[in-house]
Amino acid sequence: MFSGESTFLLALLSFFAALEQHVVGAEITLNVSSLVWPPELYSPVIPQKLLNTSSVQHTPAQYPQYTDRTIGKWKWFSSDLWTTGFFPAMLYELNTRRQLCHGSGAGDANTDWVGLGRSWSTAELPLEVKNHVGHDVGFLSYPFVQELLLNPTNETALEAVNAFATDLAARFSPTVGCTRSWDSPDPTLFRVIIDNMMNLEVLFSSYARTGNKTLVDIAVSHADRTLVNHVRPNGSSFHVVEYNATTGEVIGRVTAQGYSDNSTWSRGQAWGIYGFANMFAHTKNMSYLETSRKMATYFLDNLPLDSVVPWCGRYFTPLSFLMVS
Ligand SMILES: *[C@@H]1O[C@H](CO)[C@@H](O)[C@H](O)[C@H]1NC(C)=O
Ligand SMILES: *[C@@H]1O[C@H](CO)[C@@H](O)[C@H](O)[C@H]1NC(C)=O
Ligand SMILES: *[C@@H]1O[C@H](CO)[C@@H](O)[C@H](O)[C@H]1NC(C)=O
Ligand SMILES: *[C@@H]1O[C@H](CO)[C@@H](O)[C@H](O)[C@H]1NC(C)=O
Ligand SMILES: *[C@@H]1O[C@H](CO)[C@@H](O)[C@H](O)[C@H]1NC(C)=O
Ligand SMILES: *[C@@H]1O[C@H](CO)[C@@H](O)[C@H](O)[C@H]1NC(C)=O
Ligand SMILES: *[C@@H]1O[C@H](CO)[C@@H](O)[C@H](O)[C@H]1NC(C)=O
Ligand SMILES: *[C@@H]1O[C@H](CO)[C@@H](O)[C@H](O)[C@H]1NC(C)=O
Repeated sequence: MFSGESTFLLALLSFFAALEQHVVGAEITLNVSSLVWPPELYSPVIPQKLLNTSSVQHTPAQYPQYTDRTIGKWKWFSSDLWTTGFFPAMLYELNTRRQLCHGSGAGDANTDWVGLGRSWSTAELPLEVKNHVGHDVGFLSYPFVQELLLNPTNETALEAVNAFATDLAARFSPTVGCTRSWDSPDPTLFRVIIDNMMNLEVLFSSYARTGNKTLVDIAVSHADRTLVNHVRPNGSSFHVVEYNATTGEVIGRVTAQGYSDNSTWSRGQAWGIYGFANMFAHTKNMSYLETSRKMATYFLDNLPLDSVVPWCGRYFTPLSFLMVS
């Protein structure tokens, strides 16, 4: 599920989930029941695969990230890897899907998705106090954000979300207007990756419980700077924007995992599509929705004929690139 080509599917699923959850109360109204879904979105194979994977036990706990290229078996990783929140969060998402879609595409009616999500979260709980996970706090916090939506008084989840949000806030520079991604030996080199649009949810989740408005201000500032400096006029995106931490100026626009500095890394584009839609869901600011739509339009317009998402590409055209994590 988490290999490069499935990233878009994941983003698309999340994007629709975000729309499903937040259409009520938005300035624009979207009639979800009138939309036509690609049938793959509700394939019964999705819950079956998640359920099968959830039955695998490792001691100490390990999490699936990607599958072996030849035999298709999961590769397992320790709980502090940046992707480990995804699996438990997807278990929670299947519960949400069951409610929103009247059971469709959520597998057996008796599957306790919430119970599975909870038990798969526990090995991640020490992470919020270890404080070595850097900018990936947002990804790691997803299961706890989900838990609080169901049970806002769960103190364990609340402590985790607040600690992750505090860690992220500590990476914010008012001069740059963003949270820092990778640390650098030169403290004046301040790198921000498009991925970090995915972190902002934890700030909103903590704000919803604590009322600490500073967290929302940080999220809005980060999104505004990203909108201006990462997203190109035609809706494509840079992976990394380098700022000078002393002056706040943009000093470079480069790639780290894409094909070239001026290409569009598919996964990063997906992060932007989701991240700006999510910002709209929280703020109702149409600029974010327009940005998300512009990025989604670019993504769809530049897909190859077979719609298999390439890892990257100047125009997304050639399929000759190998996928890398
Ligand atoms: C939403 O779409 C469905 C299916 O097309 C239609 O039956 C329903 O009347 C629409 N609801 C509103 C509020 O427009
Ligand atoms: C889940 O596991 C069962 C039993 O091992 C197997 O028959 C089935 O094909 C698996 N389903 C998927 C979607 O991998
Ligand atoms: C509270 O949340 C934690 C972390 O999400 C979870 O592991 C635990 O099962 C939850 N407790 C209850 C009583 O639901
Ligand atoms: C709000 O969050 C910021 C960032 O973590 C923190 O510095 C500040 O102390 C918090 N305010 C309150 C009232 O807790
Ligand atoms: C940032 O600007 C300061 C002051 O002009 C300069 O000393 C520093 O070398 C710059 N850092 C980078 C990474 O360009
Ligand atoms: C909405 O977002 C845009 C783009 O970041 C920003 O320039 C504008 O001030 C925001 N509008 C409001 C009402 O907050
Ligand atoms: C895009 O980047 C590549 C590699 O960094 C470079 O060769 C090419 O000239 C650049 N093209 C433009 C239009 O800037
Ligand atoms: C989008 O804009 C970028 C930067 O100007 C450019 O390199 C790229 O070729 C454009 N993409 C398309 C499909 O026109």
